[in-house]
Amino acid sequence: MTAAGSAWVLHPEFRDEAAAPDGAARGPERRLDEAVALTRAVAPEIGAAEILPVRRARPATLFGSGQLAAVAERLDDAARRPDVIVVNAALTAVQHRNLERTLKVKALDRTALILEIFGARARTREGRLQVELAALSYQRSRLVRSWTHLERQRGGLGFVGGPGESQLEVDRRRIDERIVRLKRGLEAVRRTRGMHRAARRRVPYPVVVLVGYTNAGKSTLFNRLTGAGAVAEDRLFATLDPTMRALALESGRVAILSDTVGFVSDLPTELIAAFRATLEEVVEADLILHVRDAAHPDSRAQNADVQKTLADLGAAALAEGRIVEVCNKIDALAPETRAALERRAAGENAGVAVSALEGAGLGALRRCIDRRLAGGRAIGEFALRAADGAALAWLYRRGQVLDRADDGESIHVRVALDPADLARFGTRFPAVREDASRNRRPPAGVSSP
Ligand code: GTP
Repeated sequence: MTAAGSAWVLHPEFRDEAAAPDGAARGPERRLDEAVALTRAVAPEIGAAEILPVRRARPATLFGSGQLAAVAERLDDAARRPDVIVVNAALTAVQHRNLERTLKVKALDRTALILEIFGARARTREGRLQVELAALSYQRSRLVRSWTHLERQRGGLGFVGGPGESQLEVDRRRIDERIVRLKRGLEAVRRTRGMHRAARRRVPYPVVVLVGYTNAGKSTLFNRLTGAGAVAEDRLFATLDPTMRALALESGRVAILSDTVGFVSDLPTELIAAFRATLEEVVEADLILHVRDAAHPDSRAQNADVQKTLADLGAAALAEGRIVEVCNKIDALAPETRAALERRAAGENAGVAVSALEGAGLGALRRCIDRRLAGGRAIGEFALRAADGAALAWLYRRGQVLDRADDGESIHVRVALDPADLARFGTRFPAVREDASRNRRPPAGVSSP
């Protein structure tokens, strides 16, 4: 982590559409604003932020020489030289090095910046390993033959790993070895996680995940819905690793609510690969709550980014209609815009309008989750005796046990079943009585990590 105190942010505005990264539908000012917000997470003080139009990306320096000379001059004149310059684009290794040389200041490109933030925010072991892996593959791509003429050739016959290996090859090999070790570590962590997931399936609560653009308000909503006091801060990526908590709904149904990492536009390729595992949860979820910042000027472009990332992840949910759109921050909207959103949300399956901050619309959201999870299934509640083992096994096989409690005398279960199966159960196990004592204890085995 760079302990950068102050930063300058440069946003290259590409004129040539082909050279422009995805999502260029946003205006350059907005993209600069977003870069500044991201930069604040690593350098609290922003000395300057500017847009530099790039008519043609120069292979050596990205920016034109006149532009660079002007930036260098402003740097020299500045009361305080920044610790780092953030260039809001992906730089090639050569451009990166040349920019640092010309401007005489450390540079971070967009990939490096996002890696820094992810690195600082990773909370679980898996998250940390993933970020380190992504950082290493990024570093490896930065190893260029920049110093070919001065390369420290150690002489000899050029056996791999032996004398004659250039510094570049040594560095590359070290990184590769570290990558292999990290991948092994990740495998081990994932195996354990897989075991946890399997254990959770045996107590099969439906999984509801929150996704959304970074800063959309996922953590705030997560805390509101689960009554938990987890991190919610006005910084990007407050949530890097999924956190899970039980979500008890009015019908008595219990779900697992999972908060995920925030999406961001132009997510570096290294990170898309590294964070696939984190987002696996999303693909497997029973219901996806797509939290949108309705008050953000880029709300539509953010929506497009999230949809695209979900599609890239292969979230079949899109087709299956497992997504509920949650328009958040309605408190920050003009009254008429808010009213229009609320009217639209009142329609069937039209999403929900909420304010996670003030609590508006949360009842409707909970009911919507309940309804969508029920998916046409009936809920049966039974009290079973020890002798009813076969009936219990049948319920586990055919339905989804939502809740189970053992009071010493009977086992009380609440099960979601296909209505036909519910009727079948009655004829097949006539001795089992329906449970009158609706039991609403909190679920065992589901807790925050
Ligand atoms: P990442 O962790 O970066 O993905 O962010 P997030 O989506 O989890 O957002 P978070 O909950 O951290 O909220 C971001 C900012 O938006 C915080 O300053 C919240 O206080 C604010 N916020 C969240 N919900 C609302 C809301 O309903 N209304 C308003 N006005 N602000 C909100």
